[in-house]
Amino acid sequence: MKKDTNCGDLRVSDSGRQVTLSGWVHRRRDHGGLVFLDLRDRSGLVQVVVNPEDAPEAHTEADRVRSEWVLQIMGYVRARPSGTENAQLPTGEIEVLAQSVEILNPAETPPFYINEDSQVDDYLAMKHRYLYLRRPHMQRNLILRHRLVKFIRDFLDERQFIEIETPILIKSTPEGARDYLVPSRLHPGKFYALPQSPQQIKQLLMISGLERYFQIARCFRDEDLRADRQPEFTQLDLEMSFIDRDDILELIEELYISMSASVTPSKRILQLPFPQLQYDESMRRFGTDKPDLRFGLELSDVSQTMRDSKFRVFRDVVSDGGVIKGFVAPGCGGYTRKELDALIDFARGRGASGLVTFALGQEPGALQDVTLEEIRSPVKQFFDLSEITNIAEIVGAGRGDLILLCAGQVDKVNPPLAALRHEFGRRRGLADQQVLAFAFITDFPLVQWSTGEKRWEAVHHPFTAPHPHDIETLNRDPSEARSLAYDLVCNGFEMGGGSIRNHQRESQVRMLRMMGYSIEDMNKRFGHLLEALDSGAPPHGGIAMGIDRLAMILADETSLRDVIAFPKTQSAVDLLFDAPSEVPEDQLQDVHLKVATE
Ligand code: AMO
Repeated sequence: MKKDTNCGDLRVSDSGRQVTLSGWVHRRRDHGGLVFLDLRDRSGLVQVVVNPEDAPEAHTEADRVRSEWVLQIMGYVRARPSGTENAQLPTGEIEVLAQSVEILNPAETPPFYINEDSQVDDYLAMKHRYLYLRRPHMQRNLILRHRLVKFIRDFLDERQFIEIETPILIKSTPEGARDYLVPSRLHPGKFYALPQSPQQIKQLLMISGLERYFQIARCFRDEDLRADRQPEFTQLDLEMSFIDRDDILELIEELYISMSASVTPSKRILQLPFPQLQYDESMRRFGTDKPDLRFGLELSDVSQTMRDSKFRVFRDVVSDGGVIKGFVAPGCGGYTRKELDALIDFARGRGASGLVTFALGQEPGALQDVTLEEIRSPVKQFFDLSEITNIAEIVGAGRGDLILLCAGQVDKVNPPLAALRHEFGRRRGLADQQVLAFAFITDFPLVQWSTGEKRWEAVHHPFTAPHPHDIETLNRDPSEARSLAYDLVCNGFEMGGGSIRNHQRESQVRMLRMMGYSIEDMNKRFGHLLEALDSGAPPHGGIAMGIDRLAMILADETSLRDVIAFPKTQSAVDLLFDAPSEVPEDQLQDVHLKVATE
């Protein structure tokens, strides 16, 4: 071994020990002949002192090294002279007095600082990913990710789950996103699809009698990317036989509680047991099925009081069956015109036709002290004081607050309000990073009408069972029927989702028929599954948890990229390997492809 000790592990108790260290030069300083090197390895940093009088050869070498050179250093650990300790550093009470310095490899000057957490241009961070990964926070994140995956494996192993690998080259399945396709050399004109998730395969494993399956599964979805979406991502995928919905929810709750206690003990779970919100309630109170429950700012519906409003927009919305919903931004009554205009743009950018604001004065106080003069609103002329205070009472506003209202059909009003609510949670510092607000969302609708495709589509996926109380409803009005699907949410993110499945052919066929499949199409695309369901399929269900999102939240990051070693850019490009890229003509011929150029 070229090292016998980790840099970051040394403490005062090691004083006097001879150590051999290997690592990278994090920083080099020259102080009146003494050379100070901060040597870094995965464990952290240690200060090395090279004194020309003690070790002249080592000093000559140390004199020429630069940032990121790779060194092997032999020396003695000693306590730092009193007054020079560094309380910020775990090794800050000691230093290593070098006897020898060997340069294992010099390095070019890196294109950005490794030794500071300064902003790095995204392009550079992705292009030189191996250098970006040297940054201590990235190493911490990848280690955290390893720990949580290890915890999951051990936890599930103790509960009789077995990890089974499933194929990456499979058949296209309807999971909602576009597939990544792989052309076949042996079968001209045919394609494999990369799995969007191992959904059907894990169901087949239940039919095979494996009873409890899990996998740390890589999934591929060709969809529009955001900070919380990557084209290739990782799920904890699991499936169980002979269970009900609550068995899965209890398992996941126990896993997430014990995992966060073990991996991030400084984080606090807001509410135990995890609250359960029905989908309808979540949409009503928060405008989204993934609410951030670390703060209130709940939405209220003021439609009923606006039935006869002098403000025509509100009146018309109510008579068209729409809603007027909103919430209070506490203490924001003093927002300037410019700030209010920016909020309107924010809401419009998320699909709202407009945003009505009532600023209830600058001074904090009781609602009854608000005067008409101090209220500012672009639609003030249509309201008298009692109508405004009536709205304020419903939404829970007082003097000094800002009321935000959106009007329209409920599916157009909820998304901008949910986004505004999250925005104010952030602005007002209500979203404490140390808090984990887990909740289960249940009773999702089974299907929704696709106006584009003019057919019903599954809200979760077509293998999800309908809610047993809603079978009648399903025949009458599919849009009203609930499913046995559930999600786990945390701090405004969807952390995972799953369902109890159709384990009988008949219910699976009913679902596919409702989605517009003919018997012929059904057999072509799902014949294997339908046959398997007929072969003695146990009742079963499961869930898939986003590992990248979990790591992102536990690591206090805001982008999945910071918890994935080699992520893709917003446009699904790997800048380091330059993928996707063109391939030589003969490779295309092998797989029977011609690129059509426009
Ligand atoms: P679903 O599609 O809801 O369910 O996915 C489960 C979880 O996977 C994570 N996730 C993603 N993470 C990063 N980037 C993405 N592009 C991405 N897409 C999804 C989310 C999400 O909650 N087969 C079903 C599960 C089941 O029914 O058992 C499925 O994949 O955290």
